[in-house]
Amino acid sequence: MIFCYTARVFSSVMFIVIITQFNHVNGSNITCDKHCICEGTKALCSGVSLHYVPKFPPSITLVNLTHTNLSYIGEHTFYNLSFGMYIGKLILRDNYITYIHPKAFYNISALRTLEISNQHQLDIIVLTKAFFNLQKRYLKALHLRDNKWTNLPADTFISFSTSKIQKIVITGNNFKDVNCIMFEQLTSLTNLILSDNSIKDVYVKGLKTLVKLSLDSNRLTKVPKWCSNLDLSHVPNLQHLNLGSNNIGDLGNNTFRCLPNVQLLNLEGINTGRIQDNVFSSLPHIKTLMISRIGNPLKKISEFAFNSTSLSTLQMSLNNFHFDRTTSKIFAYCPDIEYLDLSQNFMPRNLSMFKETLRPLSNLQKLILAGCGITAIPEMLFTPFKKIWSINLSQNKIFQWKNLFLNVTSLTMLELSVNSITVINQTSFPREVLFSLKTLNLGFNPFSCTCDQIWFLNWTKHFMNKLVHFKNYKCKHPPDLAGKLLYNYHPTVEICTPWNPFNTIIIGLAGSGTIIVLIIVLIVRCQSNIKNYIYLLRVSYNKRRGYLTLDNDEDFEYNAFVVYCEEDRDWVHKKFIKRVENEEGLKLCIHHRDFEIGQPIIGNIDKFVEKSRKVVVIMSNDFAKSEWCQWEVDIVQEKHRRLGRDVFLLVMLKNIDSKHMTSHLRSLLASGHHIKYSSGVGEDLFWRAVIEVLKKPLGDPPVALL
Ligand SMILES: *[C@@H]1O[C@H](CO)[C@@H](O)[C@H](O)[C@H]1NC(C)=O
Ligand SMILES: *[C@@H]1O[C@H](CO)[C@@H](O)[C@H](O)[C@H]1NC(C)=O
Ligand SMILES: *[C@@H]1O[C@H](CO)[C@@H](O)[C@H](O)[C@H]1NC(C)=O
Ligand SMILES: *[C@@H]1O[C@H](CO)[C@@H](O)[C@H](O)[C@H]1NC(C)=O
Repeated sequence: MIFCYTARVFSSVMFIVIITQFNHVNGSNITCDKHCICEGTKALCSGVSLHYVPKFPPSITLVNLTHTNLSYIGEHTFYNLSFGMYIGKLILRDNYITYIHPKAFYNISALRTLEISNQHQLDIIVLTKAFFNLQKRYLKALHLRDNKWTNLPADTFISFSTSKIQKIVITGNNFKDVNCIMFEQLTSLTNLILSDNSIKDVYVKGLKTLVKLSLDSNRLTKVPKWCSNLDLSHVPNLQHLNLGSNNIGDLGNNTFRCLPNVQLLNLEGINTGRIQDNVFSSLPHIKTLMISRIGNPLKKISEFAFNSTSLSTLQMSLNNFHFDRTTSKIFAYCPDIEYLDLSQNFMPRNLSMFKETLRPLSNLQKLILAGCGITAIPEMLFTPFKKIWSINLSQNKIFQWKNLFLNVTSLTMLELSVNSITVINQTSFPREVLFSLKTLNLGFNPFSCTCDQIWFLNWTKHFMNKLVHFKNYKCKHPPDLAGKLLYNYHPTVEICTPWNPFNTIIIGLAGSGTIIVLIIVLIVRCQSNIKNYIYLLRVSYNKRRGYLTLDNDEDFEYNAFVVYCEEDRDWVHKKFIKRVENEEGLKLCIHHRDFEIGQPIIGNIDKFVEKSRKVVVIMSNDFAKSEWCQWEVDIVQEKHRRLGRDVFLLVMLKNIDSKHMTSHLRSLLASGHHIKYSSGVGEDLFWRAVIEVLKKPLGDPPVALL
């Protein structure tokens, strides 16, 4: 390589030296002709007024004479090109050339490529004569395009037998047959392009050195015979063979015999409607097989059609082939396929058959399933392909999948554009696959601009560089956001926190439960208040019923005699007296304070109970435990019998435990209602009831209720 490069640089330098010398000798400083555009090394000359070939500056290596008035090319027409020993490529296109003098090319010395195109008036026999004086020392390629020749005489290239010509392009003509014997003497010819003619027959003997042969876009009805009579190959060096766009019908399994080195076979657009067993098995080195657009439609592929151990690339798009109309084993005999294009065919609707069809391709690296009418796609379809790096599923109708990309960690390119995908979420791709992906195309899908998209939108914030054209993705749903760019849709977590109807039920239940509990607590807590309130209502009610206030307070020195035990003394003195005496102005008989000292207790009690209009009994656990108090109660109960129960005000200061409840107390409590002291909320009510009762006159007859 380095040697070649050095050699090339050296020869260029030599050229420039010669040119400079030459120009110097000539004494002329050549500029680009007014009919030409000189750009870099290229000169394009055109215009019907151009009837000569001008001189070119020394930098020009390519001269293109297109659409000029150079219809008659005489002996000296190219004289000015003789100054340019450096002109390597000459293009004569569209010049209405009618004649070329046999010596016309003689002065062009360094030509490597000659192109004569679109010269409908030029007779190939005239050209053939001119070829004799063409300098062929450096000539490598000859392009004869679109000249509408109807035949290719056998001696056309006879003058090239001493040349090193490598490439001959004869396209866009009308000849019907080619006998390649005419190329036999061209011992350097490796590339022969005979595309786009009207060739029906081709005899390929004479192409021993050929590496590439293109016969596409002709009228071949069958594949040429590659074998000699001795069963040897006419084209032992052929590697690339293009037979596309011909009328070739069925292929037998001898069709491709004697092609020992063919690596690429292009059969695109041929008419074969069925591919039989072992058609390509005779190609020991085939790597690339192109069979797109064949059959129109392709109806049948036999089980062993692709029986080949060398095949690595199979392109069979646009065949409208129904894969469910054949065996699922068609790829079972070409396990080395790395690149497979099945676009525009119909993959099986049966998902297990779909999966089965592709499963043998364990070496797959690139898979194209675009436009295959896929709606449902099998789970873990790609999981067996450990080397796959590119998957194209665009132009299908895919809207969901499950476990499709499980363990496909080799994947770097994924095409899912033009499908029916509405939502991408964290279940769409495994985390490690998202990590390995370099490009992901989801364009032209009908995205939902709803909260379901929030995961994907968050993902794009960090990995937008992986997404192809993300800023063009549009919403389809809901209708009011249709056409909005997904990129501009910003749902917030608050809006999108999912509301489960369950939650409503749970919260409802919890709420009502709480309310019920609250009510119960309230009832329990306020039980005494409620009782006290009812008590007060009764007192007031009875008052309204018109019991007369017996204004006989003078008969009594005290409004009430208070019975209490020692332990409750604090409360009686600090609260009860304070409230009833100090604030309400009633007078209470409190034994600690009012009993006459020196008198027996029993006497005192009798005396003072007599002097009191009512009896207040302050009850509590301590009260119940105290025998003394019990005894006092006994005494006051005497009074009860005489004056009726109305006389008593029973105050439950603290609840009495059942174990302390004595029969005295029980009968006392049973004889009438009691009010219960509670501090806080119900305290006011309690005092109101106490005052009401104390102020209430004694019934006559005694009030049964109180
Ligand atoms: C083209 O060249 C011919 C002679 O070769 C001449 O008669 C004719 O006038 C030319 N056409 C133009 C447009 O210059
Ligand atoms: C050579 O080129 C010059 C202009 O560059 C032109 O005037 C002359 O006619 C040309 N000679 C021939 C023989 O065409
Ligand atoms: C597959 O092709 C090979 C030759 O490449 C052949 O020997 C073999 O028999 C073929 N298999 C079948 C099942 O036809
Ligand atoms: C996926 O890969 C994990 C770890 O590499 C492996 O344990 C698991 O079996 C694989 N699952 C499938 C379905 O291949």
